Amino acid sequence: MTAPVSTRSSADLIRAEEPVLAHNYHPLPVVVASAEGTWVQDVEGRHYLDMLAGYSALNFGHRHPALIEAAHRQLDRLTLTSRAFHNDRLAEFAERLAELTGLDMVLPMNTGAEAVESGIKVARKWAYEVKGVPADRATIVVAAENFHGRTTTIVSFSTDETARAGFGPFTPGFRIVPYNDLAALEAAVDETTAAVLLEPIQGEAGVVIPDDGYLTGVRELTRRKGCLFIADEIQSGLGRTGRTLAVEHEGVVPDVLLLGKALGGGIVPVSAVVAHRDVLGVLRPGEHGSTFGGNPLAAAVGTAVIELLETGEFQRRAAELGTVLRDGLADLVGKGVVGFRARGLWAGVDIDPSLGTGREVSKLLMDEGVLVKDTHGSTIRLAPPLTITAEELESALGVLAKVLRP
Ligand SMILES: Cc1ncc(COP(=O)(O)O)c(C=O)c1O
Repeated sequence: MTAPVSTRSSADLIRAEEPVLAHNYHPLPVVVASAEGTWVQDVEGRHYLDMLAGYSALNFGHRHPALIEAAHRQLDRLTLTSRAFHNDRLAEFAERLAELTGLDMVLPMNTGAEAVESGIKVARKWAYEVKGVPADRATIVVAAENFHGRTTTIVSFSTDETARAGFGPFTPGFRIVPYNDLAALEAAVDETTAAVLLEPIQGEAGVVIPDDGYLTGVRELTRRKGCLFIADEIQSGLGRTGRTLAVEHEGVVPDVLLLGKALGGGIVPVSAVVAHRDVLGVLRPGEHGSTFGGNPLAAAVGTAVIELLETGEFQRRAAELGTVLRDGLADLVGKGVVGFRARGLWAGVDIDPSLGTGREVSKLLMDEGVLVKDTHGSTIRLAPPLTITAEELESALGVLAKVLRP
């Protein structure tokens, strides 16, 4: 890892942020200056094992050599054209992403929230033009405890009061049902329903995994009722759960797939709506767009990400090391852990509330050189880079055992 650029201390830099940076986050008091693979270094030169991986944006670790090389090569040639012109990187990115996902068309965007917004627009247009829903009557059914981003429309169907309060008036057209409840979904879907929008595993809610058969049931129900199934795999996708996509655990293919985070290799924001032609084909010139969506740098990095996924190595690692993670967490149940949910290299761990909040435990882990993030209450999320070794994972679990010891 290279030496820090800043000559200021962590404490000084944290103090300096206070008056000039909006307080929309409450970061742990660590100031990262460099990183490589699974490790980050702070400005004082302390090393930490990254067990968060940028909320799964760093599935391939920090500065994966193949991704950095692809970015450097592209930086030296062409970075932005806008979609007013074609660029020579976009066709390959779209072709390979469609092939990787088994779908046929790609709408490139930048952030996850943009992909969600775009998916909502496409579903509404599809409802009016293909399904025949009367103008402005389309509904989208979503799940309680969802997390799909932070825009005004997306927070309109959040059930998290912190995310919503003070941001109304809200966008109409959404129905909220309990997650993992097919009967409730069945009751909510009617002839106005454009789509059911779900996370196959609810990440921010604490890595909540639905019962086996739920996603298959959603697929069957949406097909039978004639509406789209939109799977938000922005956090669950691209190797994290041991498969390229979390829906693959049930052999389900959604109509619309939303991808983001790891698609940009931890280098640039890259997101996409991927769908069959009969759905994404509803968009015509001028109806949707983004200045940066599909830019050649993003396409080059995204293509390099797809190349990594095509090897299957990362999915295999997540599946194999997922067993180490699950076994290690099972050993901690009753010893500071009250329960956990895990799939691949992704876990939501419920800490005994008497030992502290998720944030307090995250701080203790930080002091011991392991970076994680709490989700809600006493739950912490573990989502290391898929490049982590078994030894590193075991060492992180050892640190967790240590900080939970009463
Ligand atoms: C499932 C899911 N959808 C959408 C988003 C929003 O992505 P972004 O923060 O890039 O807008 C997130 C971010 O955590 C997410 O987990």
